[in-house]
Amino acid sequence: MNKKLIEKAIEMRDRSHAPYSDYTVGAAVLSRSGDIIGGCNVESSSYGLTCCAERTALFRAISEGYKSFIALAVATENGGMPCGACRQVIWDLCKEIPIYICNNNGYLKTVLSSEILPDAFDDRSLK
Ligand code: THU
Repeated sequence: MNKKLIEKAIEMRDRSHAPYSDYTVGAAVLSRSGDIIGGCNVESSSYGLTCCAERTALFRAISEGYKSFIALAVATENGGMPCGACRQVIWDLCKEIPIYICNNNGYLKTVLSSEILPDAFDDRSLK
């Protein structure tokens, strides 16, 4: 458990752009070098174009030059779990990492990326 990472994910909920669902999500990823990069969900009026907080954080980190990640935190009001699309992207970019799930009371539980996406399709499947 990483307190700063969790605090960042919770804080990122304030940046959420969720006028349609009103469901604010914050995420934060910890790089191997020790930096923390945050993200929030950004919704579109064409609902399907919405980007989840986890993917915002990871895509932001990748575009900033980070390549290796060791943990992720996700914060919602009720401890919601990463969606299926995010589970795939988390696995692709992070492989096995702990994911800290948070709700309105703070840290709730830890899950492993392999646990929430067992038997994943990935780069090894393409070789
Ligand atoms: N959402 C996330 O940001 N992450 C998830 O893993 C699940 C869903 C967002 C997308 C949308 O803005 C809102 O939560 C309701 O689905």
